[in-house]
Amino acid sequence: MTEAMIRGLDFTGVDINPLAVLVCEAKKEIDHGADIEKAASLVLDALAKDRQDSIDVDYQNREKWFSNESAEYFSKIRRAILKVDEQGARKILWAVFAEIVRLCSNSRPSTYKLHIRKPGDRVGVEKISALFRSHLDETVERVKQYRSLISDRGENQPLATIICDDIRRADLNSRSDRHQILVTSPPYGDNQTTIPYGQFSYLALRWIPREDLPRGFHEMLLANTHSLDSASLGGSVVNSDAKQDAMRAISSTFDQFVSVAIGSDKEKGIRKVSSFVYDFYEALKHIREECNGHAHWALTTGNRTAVGLTVPFDEICRDIISSLGGRSLVSLKRCLPVKRMPSRNSMGVMITTETTLVAEFS
Ligand SMILES: C[S@@+](CC[C@H](N)C(=O)[O-])C[C@H]1O[C@@H](n2cnc3c(N)ncnc32)[C@H](O)[C@@H]1O
Repeated sequence: MTEAMIRGLDFTGVDINPLAVLVCEAKKEIDHGADIEKAASLVLDALAKDRQDSIDVDYQNREKWFSNESAEYFSKIRRAILKVDEQGARKILWAVFAEIVRLCSNSRPSTYKLHIRKPGDRVGVEKISALFRSHLDETVERVKQYRSLISDRGENQPLATIICDDIRRADLNSRSDRHQILVTSPPYGDNQTTIPYGQFSYLALRWIPREDLPRGFHEMLLANTHSLDSASLGGSVVNSDAKQDAMRAISSTFDQFVSVAIGSDKEKGIRKVSSFVYDFYEALKHIREECNGHAHWALTTGNRTAVGLTVPFDEICRDIISSLGGRSLVSLKRCLPVKRMPSRNSMGVMITTETTLVAEFS
């Protein structure tokens, strides 16, 4: 999104996860001039004056993830943010708030899954306060830097459309008279056994008021810590047999992979892989139907391991592209930086490289 906006290109982004969408909405507000400096000083002022010690949100297991003391402090920050009138500025503040929740809840920040910290590792109120202030300062600084980057863009403010929906159904409202560039980094597989983005976002999302969350997402997605991951690509094994059959007909690479799994008596263990690969195919098919003009696509993927078998997702993507009428141009490989990557997936094998496939539709 940032790369498009800096270049003055219209942008449409889709994610099923309200937190991912909220962060993009915050970026859009930064681009559109939200007054974050004024909002930040108002929040710090309100925080300093707040003598209330209530806990303003409640949900199942709240006290497992936040002690009463830290929940009281997060409630103070929340009340201070709610004092800001401009919704655009509040969205930026919620993005900062979400990061502080990630760093300071009782869930370990070193994993994407919700795992409880050891008692000695819990974060006290003073640290929460200091981290919130330093992240707020840093955000104000980064907003300045971004604004100086776009200062020579002139009057041509690009259009940014951010959609919170399932990419298999989202209405992209695309213009066919324009060249499209699709850039996507899909999940590595089903969220439950690779990176559970839903679990990762759950705690922050429970604190942010509904009216400041993106429009269009279903409340049910926050019903429990797993709902969002279950609704994501590959989140359900319902119909996995039918999905596997359909996918074998589309991708010869996937067909071979399944044959090897069956030959080694591991078919049951690849059900999630089959569901995920088919769901991803459905996503790309839907995008192609919605945006059917000239296009370049850049798909960044990682080859995970399931039941001891490497899933050749990069090659499967090439097959999908050709089934949709596209032409693969090049595959670029790079080693993954270790930072903020889960070092191991559930099968204990590291994903150390990723591939970006560039394809063309003419
Ligand atoms: C590897 S992350 C990529 C994040 C970001 N779009 C990027 O490219 O840096 C994969 C994203 O796919 C999203 N996702 C998973 N299933 C989805 C679905 N059915 N519809 C839309 N987004 C989905 C997840 O919420 C997650 O944010």
